[in-house]
Amino acid sequence: MNNYNPFVTAMAKSEPSAPLRSMIKMGIFNGSETVLDYGAGRLRDTMFLSRMGYDVTAYDKFHPVESFRNKKLLSNAYNIAMANYVFNVIEKKNDLIEAIKEFRSINSDRKFLSIRCDIGAMNANWVCNREEDCYFTGRSYQRFIRHDEFSRYFGKHKVIGKTSSYWLLELL
Ligand SMILES: C[S@@+](CC[C@H](N)C(=O)[O-])C[C@H]1O[C@@H](n2cnc3c(N)ncnc32)[C@H](O)[C@@H]1O
Repeated sequence: MNNYNPFVTAMAKSEPSAPLRSMIKMGIFNGSETVLDYGAGRLRDTMFLSRMGYDVTAYDKFHPVESFRNKKLLSNAYNIAMANYVFNVIEKKNDLIEAIKEFRSINSDRKFLSIRCDIGAMNANWVCNREEDCYFTGRSYQRFIRHDEFSRYFGKHKVIGKTSSYWLLELL
C-alpha cells in the first residue's frame, strides 16, 4: 500500500501492554531505571511507567508529534530499552531488518522486545504478500515471526516469556 503509516497500528489504551505488565511482574523494573520505549505508539507503556516514577523516553519513527521522532533520542544511554509489538507491523523486510539493527545498536544495559505470534488471529480477508512475508489487513501490515526464525531476525536472544498472543525476548 502506498503511504502506509505503521502508526495506525498504535492503540490508544489506558492500560499498559500485556508484555510490559509481564516484565513488571518479572521484576525487570526495580529501581531508578531510565527506559527507552522504542516504537512507543500512543504512549500507553510510556505513560504507565512514568506514572510509576520511571524516567521514560518515547521514540516512534512515525509519531505525528515531531519530538517523538527525534533520532537523537536513540543516541542517549538507557538502562532498559524495550520495543513492544513494533517488529510485527513493518511492511518491508528490509525496513524490518534496519529497525532491528537500530534497536540493537541502542546504548542500553538491557533490551527487551515482544513479538506477536497469534497467527490464529489472522482474518480470512487479510491478503498475503509473499514477497515481504506479511499480511495486508486492509489498513495495516502484520507479520508473524515464528519462533524458529527468531535467531535469524534478532540474533542472540533469550525467550523470557510466552503466551498465546506474544513472545517476550531479551536480546543478548
Ligand atoms: C503496534 S504499535 C505498538 C505501540 C506500542 N509499543 C504499544 O505497545 O502500544 C507499533 C508501533 O511501532 C512504530 N514503528 C514502526 N516501525 C518503526 C520503526 N522502524 N522505528 C520506530 N518505531 C516504529 C509504529 O509507528 C507504531 O506506533
